[in-house]
Amino acid sequence: MSRSDAWRRTAQARGAAVTFTVDGEPVHARAGETVATAMLATGTTFERDRTGAPRAPLCNMGTCFECVATVDDRPLTRTCLTPAREGLTIETSGRL
Ligand code: FES
Repeated sequence: MSRSDAWRRTAQARGAAVTFTVDGEPVHARAGETVATAMLATGTTFERDRTGAPRAPLCNMGTCFECVATVDDRPLTRTCLTPAREGLTIETSGRL
């Protein structure tokens, strides 16, 4: 098996395509990916801190809270722990 064969199998194992919205804009992902991953891949900005500086995922394992957003009306949801699924509504306009 060549190295490229291994990568091809991984790509085929990706989940179904899903679409959710971030601040009203559609973001495309694959089922099984996290919301944070999809947002990073598309260059979407995250919530801002009290000074207005943008935040971004740091740990990607649920400990730093740098990735929080409002997910389906639930504020301060860690997007790195939230699986992407069809129809989610993400709002990043809140301030911590
Ligand atoms: S990136 Fe650290 S809690 Fe989500």
